[in-house]
Amino acid sequence: MKSDLQQDVILDPDTLPSHVAIIMDGNGRWAKKRLMNRIKGHEHGSDAVRSIVTAAREVGIKVLTLYAFSTENWARPKYEIKALMMLLKKFIISQRSELSRNNIRLDIIGQKYKLPLDVQKEIDTTIDLTKKYDKMLLNLALSYGAREEITTAVQNIAKKIESKEIAVKDITHDLICDHLYTRHMPDPDLIIRTSGEYRLSNFLLWQAAYSEIFISDTLWPDFSREEFIEILKNFQKRDRRFGKVPCSTSTDG
Ligand code: FPP
Repeated sequence: MKSDLQQDVILDPDTLPSHVAIIMDGNGRWAKKRLMNRIKGHEHGSDAVRSIVTAAREVGIKVLTLYAFSTENWARPKYEIKALMMLLKKFIISQRSELSRNNIRLDIIGQKYKLPLDVQKEIDTTIDLTKKYDKMLLNLALSYGAREEITTAVQNIAKKIESKEIAVKDITHDLICDHLYTRHMPDPDLIIRTSGEYRLSNFLLWQAAYSEIFISDTLWPDFSREEFIEILKNFQKRDRRFGKVPCSTSTDG
C-alpha cells in the first residue's frame, strides 16, 4: 500500500531504492557564502538531516545511511571536531522520541570506540531503545572509512584462517560481506552526494559496486525533501543492469 507521501509525490513503491546512502557535503561552503563560522553550517546541516530522515521514512525507504564523520575528519581542527561531536550528541538525544514515534531503529557503522565516551553512551542508549523498531534503519557512519572497514575485515578473516576456523577456499564475496560493518543490510541502491563533488571519499567502497550515483549541486544545509523526492524519481527511471545486457536485447527474451 502506498504511504501518504508516496501518494502525494507519485513514487512507485515497487521500484523504490531499499537502501539510500548520502554523502552530506557542503556545510562549510554554505557557511562561508553567508560569512558565517563553519560550525553554523554544521548546525544547519543537522536540520537538513532531521528533515531527510523524516522524508525517507515517509516514502518507505528501508535503510538510510548518512556519512556524518569520516576517519579522515579526525584531521580537522579540534574546535570543529568538538562542535561536530556536540551536534551529534544533541541529535541522538533529541531524536529519541521522534525515532520511537516513527518506528525507526538507529545503528552506526564505523569505529565507535574512537568517539568521545559521552557520545558513545548516548549512541548505545538510543540503539538499545530503538532496537525493536522496523519501519526504517537509520544508519549513521561515524568515524567511518571504507579502507579501514575492509582492512579490519581482512584482519579478522586472517585470524580465523590462522586459528583454522576457516580455510582460504572459504573466502567468498559473501564471507567478506559478513565481516563488514554493513553485514546486516543490503548494499546501497542509491548513493547521493551533495555540493557538486564527484567523489566517493572512502565511503562504502565495497558496497557501492552496483549503486546508482546521484550528484547534487546543492550544499547539504539547503538539501530539501523536495529535492530528495526528485532524486528518487530519477532513480526510478534508471535501467539497472548489474553488468548484464538489457532484457530487450538478450537472446532468451
Ligand atoms: C561535510 O561538509 C560534512 C561533514 C564533515 C559533517 C556532516 C555533519 C552534519 C551534516 C551535521 C551533524 C550530523 C548529524 C548526523 C546530526 P564540509 O564541512 O566538508 O563542507 P565543505 O566541503 O563545504 O567545507
